[in-house]
Amino acid sequence: MAALLSVQDLTVGYESSAGAVTALDSVSIEINENELVSVVGESGCGKSTLALAMIGLLPTPPARVLNGEIEFKGTNLLGLGPKRMREYRGTQIAMIFQEPLSSLNPVYKIGDQIAEAITIKRMRDDGRSVIESEVMQKTHKIVPPSPSKLPRGKRKIPAEMKEDTIASLKLVRIPDPDQVIDRYPFELSGGMRQRVMIAMALSQEPALLIADEPTTALDVTTQAQVLKLMKELMDKVKTSILLITHDLAVACQVADRVAVMYAGDIVETSNVYDLFSKPLHPYTQGLISCVPTGSKRKVVLKPIPGSVPDLRTRMVGCKYVSRCPYAMQVCSERKPRLLDVMNDHQVACFLHGEADGSNTANN
Ligand SMILES: Nc1ncnc2c1ncn2[C@@H]1O[C@H](COP(=O)(O)OP(=O)(O)OP(=O)(O)O)[C@@H](O)[C@H]1O
Ligand SMILES: [Mg+2]
Repeated sequence: MAALLSVQDLTVGYESSAGAVTALDSVSIEINENELVSVVGESGCGKSTLALAMIGLLPTPPARVLNGEIEFKGTNLLGLGPKRMREYRGTQIAMIFQEPLSSLNPVYKIGDQIAEAITIKRMRDDGRSVIESEVMQKTHKIVPPSPSKLPRGKRKIPAEMKEDTIASLKLVRIPDPDQVIDRYPFELSGGMRQRVMIAMALSQEPALLIADEPTTALDVTTQAQVLKLMKELMDKVKTSILLITHDLAVACQVADRVAVMYAGDIVETSNVYDLFSKPLHPYTQGLISCVPTGSKRKVVLKPIPGSVPDLRTRMVGCKYVSRCPYAMQVCSERKPRLLDVMNDHQVACFLHGEADGSNTANN
């Protein structure tokens, strides 16, 4: 069965006054229907760049797609102009960001914002084109107020939409949804705001939901609740999820499959069970040894020595070579390809490729 979304050899660079950065270096990844794939990796390894490329929100310039394809349901998204991309973004592919305060409009009540999302979905279903900012004004007769004149306490949601708006909040288990619709984003806790964002994204019934560090700003208890909720809603709404996180423990809790990124490369990908029980890439092994397990009384964490290479430098070999305890000569000379080593388990490492060096990306 063809993947829902397939990224092939995607290379993305950023131009800056300090020099050109290769943020994604020939990245390939697939997401199947009803699958939760987690992309994990250290800060700056290219996770958000991958997400933004998928949803057509790369800032161009300074970003430039240098190579590759992103195929979604058989269409190469990179070949679409901005207008066609809008038919996918927010509807077929939705995204939630790390800090919901920056995505929610501070001057509109929660209920108005969810009602707008539902209205957009209905208009699209009816084949009507939508300019999002106009919808809010036309359907709810709202003119954006100045912050000093917030329309506090005055309900704007049309009566016939109230029920659906409340149902949407119930779906993400917000307590007292009939009161929450009248609140402003700043009046909610971080966990509630993140649930509102999930409700708005899911109201579009997207085939793919991209969540970029959605729980990083939350405490561990709320984080666990939000992750569990996302996983449960996957089946209800029939969506696939790409969960981006720097936290391997988060991926372990909810993912079906995990892709490990290092300095713009995917270095290992596998189902979640094999990745944690039989990690093959030395970087994945290093990341796992940094996660506290709680199985021993005294937990000894082993940080990975060294640091991520400067992405402005063009490297010939494996980018992990300077930190790898098993580095061989070939690792500095050639870049290993991501190869199938076991069923549903791929790794880019000469320790697990052919010894004659045929496991190379640049031969
Ligand atoms: N707008 C930009 N201009 C220039 N360079 C950028 C820009 N955005 C990202 N980069 C660079 O691209 C690389 C990848 O950044 P990206 O934000 O994708 O990483 P990330 O894995 O999401 O990191 P984090 O975990 O900190 O969010 C980094 O070296 C970063 O400095
Ligand atoms: Mg990021």
